Amino acid sequence: MILSREEERVLSGEEGEARAKAMEILCAVGKIYGADGLLPVSSAQVSGVSYKTIGDAGLEFLADFAAKGAKAAVPSFLNPAGMDRENWKAMGVPPAFAEKQLEILRAYGKMGVSATCTCAPYLIGIRPRLGEHVAWSESNAISFANSMLGARTNRESGVTALASAITGKTPNFGLHLDENRKAGLIVEVDAEMGRMTDFGALGLIAGREAKDRIPAFEGIPRKPASEDRMKSLGAAMAASGSVALYYAKGITPEWRLAGEPGKLESIAVTKRELEEEKAKMSSADSVELVTIGCPHASLSEVREVAGRVKGKKLKVSLWVCTSRETKAEAEKLKYVKAIEEAGGLVVADTCMVVAPLEEMGYKRTGVNSGKAASYLPSFCGQKVRFSDVEELL
Ligand code: F3S
Repeated sequence: MILSREEERVLSGEEGEARAKAMEILCAVGKIYGADGLLPVSSAQVSGVSYKTIGDAGLEFLADFAAKGAKAAVPSFLNPAGMDRENWKAMGVPPAFAEKQLEILRAYGKMGVSATCTCAPYLIGIRPRLGEHVAWSESNAISFANSMLGARTNRESGVTALASAITGKTPNFGLHLDENRKAGLIVEVDAEMGRMTDFGALGLIAGREAKDRIPAFEGIPRKPASEDRMKSLGAAMAASGSVALYYAKGITPEWRLAGEPGKLESIAVTKRELEEEKAKMSSADSVELVTIGCPHASLSEVREVAGRVKGKKLKVSLWVCTSRETKAEAEKLKYVKAIEEAGGLVVADTCMVVAPLEEMGYKRTGVNSGKAASYLPSFCGQKVRFSDVEELL
């Protein structure tokens, strides 16, 4: 890798131990993947925030990095934590967990990483432009940035995204380069796609089929393909496969194929396959908890839930997971009040997967997200009901 004089200085420790360490991490990754050098990034989105996922070892690493004077050099923001920072008691989070979680947030705060605690930064105005290079690490956010916005990021880990936050750089390889942004699989959608779970189920199927290829969708109608539905599609593909970029004809700003359309492998996905996928992901007939907002709910998703539960009383727990910003908007519009009066919670800063659900006694959870349906059994020991909001509520 060829480094600039300034990058060499950082690496040699002239700007402090923390920046040198961050530069060392990025250079090591760059060498492994054959990067020719480093690129400036305009932002970093850092995962590895929940105490449930990073544990004491992660907390120690962050505290040490913060103590060495690490500071974000570009706008940087956090993925969800393991609990709502303000409302964790109402969620039923164990105090010992909460204490560790707050320590993690303090360490990130010391480094100047903003505690947005959302996996959908694109819903709170953090939207890199077409061609802009960023270093993001939450898989659905990566997919949305690359696909729906046409920005450029690799699938960063929490550590490499933090290293990018501190240096403002990322190694130049993978999805930062035009030649690696070409689709190798056409997915023809031969189904109506009227419901949110259609997009989650399609994502789960396409993610598995794509393997390490970039999928290009034909036949997703523009009208029901709202950003909410496309975020669900991208999240599910990132969960069942490692899809960090996809194209959808007439929807995504870019459309690049790795060859002549007729010569690429192509698969068709029918309505019957979508329904079979949904049935396969559902292992619970009844639920104790319904969670909406994977990826984090938009204001219109919060509104939909509020409209459905207003004036009613819920028999099971309900969490609507969203960002603190969206929750504040929903409070002004009285959506939070309607949900809380029905007995539900609008939970900020966290989600059903990174919160300690199993420690909180839940065993059966209803979700409308393909990604959550895919992760909850293994990450949280849950049986899952994968259905649309109207059925779950
Ligand atoms: Fe976000 Fe949690 Fe889903 S981080 S994408 S809500 S698993």
